[in-house]
Amino acid sequence: VRYDLLVVGSANADLVIGVERRPAPGETVLGSDLAVHPGGKGANQSLAAARLGARTALLARVGDDDHGRLLLETQRAAGVDTDGVLVGGAPTGVALITVDLSGDNSIVVSPGANGRLTPEDVRAAAPLLAAARVISVQLEIPLDTVAETVRGRGPDTRLVLNPSPPAPLPAEVLAACDPLVVNEHEARYILGEDAGEGPHDWAPALLALGPRSVVITLGAAGALVADSRTGSLDHLISPKVEAVDTTGAGDAFTAALAWRLGRGDDLREAAAFAVRVGAAAVMAQGAQKSFPTLEEVDAL
Ligand code: RIB
Ligand code: NA
Repeated sequence: VRYDLLVVGSANADLVIGVERRPAPGETVLGSDLAVHPGGKGANQSLAAARLGARTALLARVGDDDHGRLLLETQRAAGVDTDGVLVGGAPTGVALITVDLSGDNSIVVSPGANGRLTPEDVRAAAPLLAAARVISVQLEIPLDTVAETVRGRGPDTRLVLNPSPPAPLPAEVLAACDPLVVNEHEARYILGEDAGEGPHDWAPALLALGPRSVVITLGAAGALVADSRTGSLDHLISPKVEAVDTTGAGDAFTAALAWRLGRGDDLREAAAFAVRVGAAAVMAQGAQKSFPTLEEVDAL
């Protein structure tokens, strides 16, 4: 095993504008100066893990353009192995992000090159998949590519999936998740009409769909974890922090969780650590810039 974590996912340029409130349909509002940050749920996760000290690799696709170079440079500077980052085929993905006064964000993603990361690309990266203790995937790349990653993982490789943005998931993918990591919005999407009242109903309902374990992130309220092996359901509380910008906090959470699971933590321990990483990540602007080192997590 050469990597604690392999992330198969997206890399975006985040174009961020602060707003007092979001415009209604047909309305125009003025916002802050534009900030351009490296982002994308995949690149965010690999960077978050590397910053914590994990041996991390990224399998992704960026364009042959300035945004792609920014992403590659940031990953390399953080120590992520970028041999699996393919270049070309379409412009780098872009995320248009507004952040409001409470630190909440709204995001529209144009996948660009992420949409050209193919099952073929995954097959060509077989040695990378075989060399990872844990593989983490999200849904800003084609679903076929996610499914190929699931099939191509090693027999002892643990799979962590954050289905974001939500899309219908094949049973084969759901069954491979250990855990499936969802926020409230994604949980409701997957469960549909009969989602039940709240997270305590959602967790068993999600487990019934096939994953070995489920983690529901609850923002400032922490996370709920359910493990089918032990039948346990645990609520992990988040430290109280001042939210400046929540962008990428979920990605930092998932990366931290995946890394610690690979190190042998049980789900509850890993989630307790990840909750603190997620909390640290909301305390500063941007996604990747706000991700903590291990020392910063310990200080929280
Ligand atoms: O999860 C946050 C990320 O979502 C942003 O970095 C943006 O690129 C979108 O992918
Ligand atoms: Na942040």
